[in-house]
Amino acid sequence: KRVAIVISGGGSNMAALLAAMAAPDYPAACVLVAANRPEAGGLAKARAAGAPTVLVDHRDHADRERFERALSAEIEAAGAELVCLAGFMRLLTPWFTARWRDRLLNIHPALLPSYRGLDTHARALADGVAIHGCTVHLVRDATDTGPILGQAASPVLAGDDAARLAARVLALEHRLYPAALAAYAAGRLRAVGERVEGQPIAL
Ligand code: GRF
Repeated sequence: KRVAIVISGGGSNMAALLAAMAAPDYPAACVLVAANRPEAGGLAKARAAGAPTVLVDHRDHADRERFERALSAEIEAAGAELVCLAGFMRLLTPWFTARWRDRLLNIHPALLPSYRGLDTHARALADGVAIHGCTVHLVRDATDTGPILGQAASPVLAGDDAARLAARVLALEHRLYPAALAAYAAGRLRAVGERVEGQPIAL
């Protein structure tokens, strides 16, 4: 499967996906890395890995939908069949989520449906949860909802602060995303309405 990876920042999840894709038997290849901000550090990582890159700066567009139409045009021109959001920090409108329905994946740094939204690690710590983690899901209109393709969990350790917990979860993200994308790209996981057929990844 041809995949476009969309980033806003450092792109560590993008880098993990590109590394996994280097394996000859991996069921997906990256045809484009797109960023919405020129200062996204992931653009340099993508170029260093030899991936085609494009900047679609959201500030160049009058509104969200115009930005999304420009982004989608670049993704389609690259021939992508799947889109992986990876550290992408813009809310998507129903225009984009409908156009890429069931072909749009995201990774969220929490065990959805717990802790949708931002500052997930600090919120989990504040609640005193014993287990935290990350989720790869298909993107639907409501933020951080959608059929779950995989999850990875970590105990919350004594002495954890948000930064230490975030670092441990980020390392899990780098293992989970390649595994979940491979299962979906290979057809071992399928979306049927709001359900997933197959065995979601559990790490
Ligand atoms: C990280 O907080 C990660 O948990 C979330 O997006 C942020 C940046 O990720 N998925 P990346 O390094 O840009 O992939």
